[in-house]
Amino acid sequence: MTPAYDRIGVNYAALRKPDPRIAARIERALGAARRVLNVGAGAGSYEPANREVVALEPSLEMIRQRPAGAAPVVQGRAEALPFADASFDAAMAVLTVHHWADETKGLAEMRRVTRGPIVILTYDPAFRGFWLADYLPELVALDEAQMPTMADYAAWLGPVDISPVPIPHDCADGFLAAYWRRPRLYLDERVRAAISSFWALGDVSEALARLASDLDSGAWARRYPGLADLDQCDCGYRLVVTK
Ligand SMILES: C[S@@+](CC[C@H](N)C(=O)[O-])C[C@H]1O[C@@H](n2cnc3c(N)ncnc32)[C@H](O)[C@@H]1O
Repeated sequence: MTPAYDRIGVNYAALRKPDPRIAARIERALGAARRVLNVGAGAGSYEPANREVVALEPSLEMIRQRPAGAAPVVQGRAEALPFADASFDAAMAVLTVHHWADETKGLAEMRRVTRGPIVILTYDPAFRGFWLADYLPELVALDEAQMPTMADYAAWLGPVDISPVPIPHDCADGFLAAYWRRPRLYLDERVRAAISSFWALGDVSEALARLASDLDSGAWARRYPGLADLDQCDCGYRLVVTK
C-alpha cells in the first residue's frame, strides 16, 4: 500500500515547520528521557535536538523532506515497530495517531518499546468552537470519524494527563487550526494542500467562496469579535502524556 503522505506530503516541510511554543510543551513532557522514539515522524518536526532520537515514518516522500542532520529514520508503521521491548526512555507521536490503520495496535507497540512517558499531540473530536467548522460543518463529522476520543487514550495506555495546547496566533506549523487569526490563508490552495483534512473533504470551493465574501464584507470580523485581540486560542488540540 502506498502511504497516503507520499501524495499529500509534497511541500510539507515548507508549510509545517515546528512551532517553538508547542515544541517547548513536548520537550517538557519528555522529561529526563535520553533515547526518544518519534513515531509518524514525518519531516522531523518537534524532534528534540539535545536527545538521542530515532524516527519512524512510513512515507518515503516525508522521509525525503527530513533536513540534513535530522535524527536517523526507519521506514515503518506504528502497528509493527521494529524495536526491542523497552528500548526507548520515551516516545512521541505528533498529529499522527489519527492516520494509523490500527491505533490500538500502534499504541500497544509504543507502550511495548518505551520504558517512560509516551507523549501524544492530538485533537479532541468532542471540541466545538473552531470557527472554520461554521463554514465547513463536515469537519466535525470528519474529526469524529478519524480522531480517537480522549477516553480512548486512557483505555489504550492507562492513566494519562490530558491538557489543552493553545495555538499561537502566528503558529509556524500550518495544521488545520493554525490560521485561526489569519483566516485569509485558508483561501490559499498551497496552504490547504499541507492540511490532510482538506484532502479528505474534497471540493470546498463553495465554503471558501462564502468565507472570502464574509472577509471582504466584514461579516467574518463581526461574527467573531475579539479574535483579533487574542494571542493564542484553544482550538481543540490536546497533549496526552502517560503518568
Ligand atoms: C500530519 S503528519 C505529522 C508528521 C510529524 N509528526 C509532524 O508533526 O510534522 C502525519 C504523519 O503520520 C504518518 N503516518 C501515517 N500512517 C502511519 C502509521 N500507520 N504509522 C506511523 N506513521 C504513520 C504519515 O506518513 C505522516 O508523516
